Amino acid sequence: MTRKPLLIGNWKMFKTSQEANEFINELRRQLATSFQDDREVTLGVPFPSLEAAAQAAVGSPITIAAQNLHWEAEGAFTGEVSGPMLTAAGARAVIIGHSERRQLFGDTNEWINKKLSAALKYSLTPILCLGETWEDRKTGRAFELLGRQLAEALSGLTTPTLVPLVIAYEPVWAIGTGQTATPKTAQETHAFIRQWLTAHYDHSFANAVRLLYGGSVKPDNVAQLMDQTDIDGALVGGASLKPDSFARIINFDR
Ligand code: PGA
Repeated sequence: MTRKPLLIGNWKMFKTSQEANEFINELRRQLATSFQDDREVTLGVPFPSLEAAAQAAVGSPITIAAQNLHWEAEGAFTGEVSGPMLTAAGARAVIIGHSERRQLFGDTNEWINKKLSAALKYSLTPILCLGETWEDRKTGRAFELLGRQLAEALSGLTTPTLVPLVIAYEPVWAIGTGQTATPKTAQETHAFIRQWLTAHYDHSFANAVRLLYGGSVKPDNVAQLMDQTDIDGALVGGASLKPDSFARIINFDR
């Protein structure tokens, strides 16, 4: 089974629409001579910059993603944004359940499950984030916790509806800390996630789902991570904020 590598930049709360436009123009310039289409590129952009980013990306290999959504299409939900609004703004994917949303904004597995269903309903590729804290890892509870996050996030969802799903494993202790999981730890955890999928879904789906690693991915460690059997891509925060650094990650040697 060949899974096409997927490199996603997660801009978090960075970049106005003008900055997004400038970044994408520069990234396109840098990729113009070097991009190999054996891989895919996505940028996770703040809501107000989605439209500008999508326009700047037209005719390029870059797909635009949002970083959150509400599960209803519309309603009295002050401050929330729906799937149809995201697609209308040009997003084709959405990050769901990032650990910052879970830890700082109270996203629960139940909400994440509803957001996932809504993303699929509105034809947005869901990028589901999972990850354990250092405490969970230290006490040997990482897999138990990840299994629970998977079970609750995917509850009631079946194939073929789930086919577009992308999963990003992001250990909380590795996000923004410069402390990347070793390729061995990341691979073991990805293998666990794939086994979990194999136990709960058909084998062809479990084999085809792309599992991304996230947490302090940089130009100089991406290739080693991507070399692991079950690592099919990267979700990149800090190192996706500069076009040259993100271009080097995209252009990792296979
Ligand atoms: P980082 O963030 O690459 O800055 O560690 C990753 C993420 O939060 O998605």
